[in-house]
Amino acid sequence: GRRGTLKGMKQRLLVVANRLPVSAVRRGEDSWSLEISAGGLVSALLGVKDVDAKWIGWAGVNVSDEVGQRALKRALAEKRCIPVFLDEEIVHQYYNGYCNNILWPLFHYLGLPQEDRLATTRNFESQFNAYKRANQMFADVVNQHYQEGDVVWCHDYHLMFLPKCLKEHNSKMKVGWFLHTPFPSSEIYRTLPSRSDLLRSVLAADLVGFHTYDYARHFVSACTRILGLEGTPEGVEDQGRLTRVAAFPIGIDSDRFKRALDLPAVKKHVQELTQRFAGRKVMLGVDRLDMIKGIPQKILAFEKFLEESPDWRDKVVLLQIAVPTRTDVPEYQKLTSQVHEIVGRINGRFGTLTAVPIHHLDRSLDFHALCALYAVTDVALVTSLRDGMNLVSYEFVACQGSKKGVLILSEFAGAAQSLGAGALLVNPWNITEVAKNIEHALSMTSEEREKRHRHNYAHVTTHTAQDWAETFVSELNDTIVEAQLRTRQ
Ligand code: G6P
Repeated sequence: GRRGTLKGMKQRLLVVANRLPVSAVRRGEDSWSLEISAGGLVSALLGVKDVDAKWIGWAGVNVSDEVGQRALKRALAEKRCIPVFLDEEIVHQYYNGYCNNILWPLFHYLGLPQEDRLATTRNFESQFNAYKRANQMFADVVNQHYQEGDVVWCHDYHLMFLPKCLKEHNSKMKVGWFLHTPFPSSEIYRTLPSRSDLLRSVLAADLVGFHTYDYARHFVSACTRILGLEGTPEGVEDQGRLTRVAAFPIGIDSDRFKRALDLPAVKKHVQELTQRFAGRKVMLGVDRLDMIKGIPQKILAFEKFLEESPDWRDKVVLLQIAVPTRTDVPEYQKLTSQVHEIVGRINGRFGTLTAVPIHHLDRSLDFHALCALYAVTDVALVTSLRDGMNLVSYEFVACQGSKKGVLILSEFAGAAQSLGAGALLVNPWNITEVAKNIEHALSMTSEEREKRHRHNYAHVTTHTAQDWAETFVSELNDTIVEAQLRTRQ
């Protein structure tokens, strides 16, 4: 279908995201060591055929001296990455402030910050100004590197102002924007003080993409209700100009997981874990330690399950990998202590001299350890309160080829729309319901497990990250940029 449209010449693509897919560590005045993080987006874009992609984004470190900046630029160039340098003040106001304290919770239905309401309102203006300034800094770097014929793909809630900045500078540029989070109901979205500015800016793009049809629909209703524009099945129309709006559900590079499971090191790890937890069923949670992931709710549901199913108490263990994230934002610090408190209480209550029911780790695991852990898991628990897609659920399924374990999945994760028929769907707020589903998952017949797994596995291995990226890029390529039409006539 759509793939054919990229044949012929290599399409040049500029990918713009807040974060570059690297972690950079300074080794000396003019030397850096870089590690490419092979997350979803990276492997997706590396896998796109006939596309020559470059990344533009923040390297996640503050580099204030010119020698350091030049050295980092050089090092990144080898990885096809181009840095945007943000100073500490901008990072504080734009990234910690507007992005992670305002847009992120709002888009996940947690509302605008409630505490210090007055202080937040006062900060709002300066944080929004910093957000616009930061977006303009990304635009400046794009403009320096843009060549005619390039397509520019902007990512996520950090860069909603970018399409407008880019089009104002060059109306012929082909610009796409994709949101990796949910787009909330217009009733939630319209509480945002800068609601109209952000919508208008996103509409400057030629193609706007979301993970699910629902998010796309919420976005279109926000445009009709707040801006009074017309929503059509194709997108949003403003004075004869159409912005295409559509759903493009992301996936993972499932082959990478399958390959990892064949490595001797991973097999050895699987063996060790199997021995370590012999006689017990393994339940697993893997999340960034973020309030949207519903980690406290998950652990409370597990407690409820232990309460109600005493026979299971010494036969099951919950491994919760909680990866620290955005640790400068106070809300995240509070969440960390809250989770520690609950885990401590439950382990105190149900632990014995030789075993505890919950192993909670505040850290990330390397890729091979993670694959091994997915492979030995009997039941994975994804209880996001809201989640754009949630690829942990996909990764778990990809690693379950032999075990065929059960996925318990929040109906509020985008993934519920694709894995709904294979997973046990739950409302994470309903702790009793989640506890019942844990019991069901642990005692499920192998026929039912296999049937459910087959469904999920087929989906995860056919709707890959590469397909996602190819579809978006070729569709962006096919959109007609109004300004180009006009000059051709
Ligand atoms: C979410 C966002 C991404 C972001 C990631 C990690 O998945 O959609 O844009 O990069 O979280 O968060 P961080 O703030 O560390 O970049």
